Amino acid sequence: MTAEKDIIILGIESSCDETAAAVTVNGRKVLSNEISSQIDIHTLYGGVVPEIASRKHIERINQVVKKALDTAGVTLQDLDAAAVTYGPGLVGALLVGVSFAKALSFAADIPLIGVHHIEGHICANYIADPALEPPYACLVVSGGHTHLVLVRDYGVYEILGRTQDDAAGEAFDKVARAIGLGYPGGPKIDAAAKEGNPDAIVFPRGKVSGSVYDFSFSGLKSAVLNYINSEKMAGREICVPDVAASFQKAVVSVLVDHAMEAVREYGFQSLALAGGVASNSALRAAMKSACDGAGVRFLCPPPILCTDNAAMISCAGYYEYLQGHFAGPDLNAVPALKLGERR
Ligand code: KG4
Ligand code: ZN
Repeated sequence: MTAEKDIIILGIESSCDETAAAVTVNGRKVLSNEISSQIDIHTLYGGVVPEIASRKHIERINQVVKKALDTAGVTLQDLDAAAVTYGPGLVGALLVGVSFAKALSFAADIPLIGVHHIEGHICANYIADPALEPPYACLVVSGGHTHLVLVRDYGVYEILGRTQDDAAGEAFDKVARAIGLGYPGGPKIDAAAKEGNPDAIVFPRGKVSGSVYDFSFSGLKSAVLNYINSEKMAGREICVPDVAASFQKAVVSVLVDHAMEAVREYGFQSLALAGGVASNSALRAAMKSACDGAGVRFLCPPPILCTDNAAMISCAGYYEYLQGHFAGPDLNAVPALKLGERR
C-alpha cells in the first residue's frame, strides 16, 4: 500500500512519560525521531506520577516538535498531516499531545489523524523492516499491555491472547522494585540477569485455564515476593542476579511458548515483537532461536523504536492517511481505547 506522491507526516506521542515528535516520509522513512524522557523525574517516586507527567509534557512539547521539524529539515507547510496518539494512556498526558496536534493541524491547515498507541508499537516493525507486509503475528509487550495479535492487514487486528492481570512490563517493574533495583525495572532486571543463573530458582509459568494464548503474570510476581520473604525469614540474603535471571526466564518462556503456538496454529511465516519489553535481550534471543528453529522470520525493531516514540505513531498515521481515516477537531483522549476501535 503506497501513495502516488511522497507523504510527510508529523507524529506526536505523549501517552505516558515520553514527550516525542517525529517526521516520516511514506511511513517507513524516518527523517527525525525526538524523544524527551521524564524517567529521571519519575524515578524519584518509584514510578510514573500522572500529574507530573502531564505538566512535563506541557513544558516540553513545543521544543520537541520544533526539534523534530528542524532535524527533518521540513516546515509546517511541507507536512501532509499530523498524527497523534489519542489512547490508550494517561488521560492528562494524552490530552497534551491531542490538544497540541489539533492546534497545529488547524494552524497549518492539514488533516489530523488519531493513532492507537499499540498500533504505533506494532507499526515500528514497518520502519525496522521496509519489506514487511501483513499478514504476520505480533507479540506486543509493554508496560501497560501484553497482546498476542494477528495482523491481518494494515489497521486490521485480531487479538488472540492478552494478559488477564499484570502486563509483562508491569511485572518486570514490580519485581525490580521488590528486589531493590528501582525504576524502570525492565532494563535493570535485564542487566542484573546477565550476571545471574536463570535456573537457580524455579518460578511458576503463568497459565490461564481454558486459554492457550492468554497470559497471567500476577502469580509469578507473588511467587517472587513469597520467595524473597521466605529467604528473609530464614535469615538468608537473596542473590539479586539469580532472582532477576530466574524471573526473566519464567516470563520469557511463557511469551515465547504462546507466540510460537500461535504461529504454528495459524501458519504465519513472520513473527514480530513490539513494545518496551521487546528490548529485553533474553526475550529477543529466545524468540529468535525459536523462530529460526521453526523456519519462521523473526522481526524486532531496534530498542529506540521499541520504547515509546513518535516515529511509530507517524508510521501508523501514514496507513490511516492512505485509508482516509481523519479526525475532526472533536478528537478526544480515550484512556482505555481498545486496539482496532476507532472514535
Ligand atoms: O512500550 P513502553 O515504552 O511503554 C508503554 O507503552 O507501556 O514500555 C515500557 C515498559 C516498562 O515496563 C519497562 O520496564 C519495560 O517496558 N522495558 C523492559 C526493558 N526495557 C523496557 N522490560 C524488560 N527488559 C528491558 N530491557
Ligand atoms: Zn508504549
